[in-house]
Amino acid sequence: MTYRLSIVPGDGVGREVVPEGLKAVRAAAEVTGSFDFETVEYPWSCEYYAAKGVMMDADAMERMRDSDAIYLGAIGFPGVPDHVSLWQMLLPIRQQFDLYINLRPIRLLPGISGPLRDRGPEDVDFVCVRENTEGEYCGVGGRIRAGTPDEVVTQTAIFTRKGTERVLRYAFDLAQTRDKQLVSCTKSNALNHSMVFWDEITQIVAADYPDVSVSTQHVDALAARMVLNPQQLDVVVASNLFGDILTDLGGAVSGGIGLASSANLNPDRTGPSMFEPVHGSAPDIAGQNKANPTAAILSAALMLDFLGETDAADRIRAACSAEPGTGSTTDVGDAVAARVRH
Ligand code: IPM
Ligand code: MN
Repeated sequence: MTYRLSIVPGDGVGREVVPEGLKAVRAAAEVTGSFDFETVEYPWSCEYYAAKGVMMDADAMERMRDSDAIYLGAIGFPGVPDHVSLWQMLLPIRQQFDLYINLRPIRLLPGISGPLRDRGPEDVDFVCVRENTEGEYCGVGGRIRAGTPDEVVTQTAIFTRKGTERVLRYAFDLAQTRDKQLVSCTKSNALNHSMVFWDEITQIVAADYPDVSVSTQHVDALAARMVLNPQQLDVVVASNLFGDILTDLGGAVSGGIGLASSANLNPDRTGPSMFEPVHGSAPDIAGQNKANPTAAILSAALMLDFLGETDAADRIRAACSAEPGTGSTTDVGDAVAARVRH
């Protein structure tokens, strides 16, 4: 099997960490012998925007559509407002390819001392399933009478039955492959429409999974629990905004955002899924061979999982656990690739 990968390094440290992830994939392909891959690299980024006035070419989605996966570094650079770069690139990719699952493992790697006192790898090992196409990030809203005392702004969250049900179903399925403990993140005390609905769908879907124990918890209390009792968590499912916030916290409790990986999945495979580190382009350290490539390398492992190359993915994860990110970007990448080969 030869996979076709669309590579979008993007901006800043994205360009430095993506090659390290590809090194690990190359090593895993060679050592397992079970697949090969070819890459097509695209320059789409904020720098591209500065030169051409667009983040991506008009036919970008069509060009990527046939690939088996998209591997992305990071997007964002001073001078291009974040809402422009995100709404012209990252969010359209998620929405148009229907990447409705944002899967974010939260694992404290062996050898990393996280910020939580007396907590080790056995305590911090759960997965967040974040809804990735609608909710608070659907982009619906408006602004009138700008700049006047009568200005009005709305930012509407959209929760569809289909969108809510499918993310919950995915989370229940995932829980069945793990410890069968699911926490559904809510805020139905204050959000009396959207989150009451979310809770109802949770209960409806739960009926199909009698073997999974499910509880609901308000996002604020769940944030505290991630810090105080992370060992209680197995799978967490959350709406787009809540999942976004919780997974930055997840990155922090598992030793830093430089280690946090993510997969934007279309489980129905009607479009290519996209794999990217949780961290951003970090312009402050860009170009200095300083960024930790571990998050990008672990995101490549998630890509191999989704392509069915579990052995290769496991080898990369094991290699990252043994060498959890010290030294320069290229040193860490070389060390991980060498461990994958052994
Ligand atoms: C993430 C990022 C994005 C998000 C931003 C950049 C829009 O924070 O992937 O978590 O919130 O989805
Ligand atoms: Mn985020």
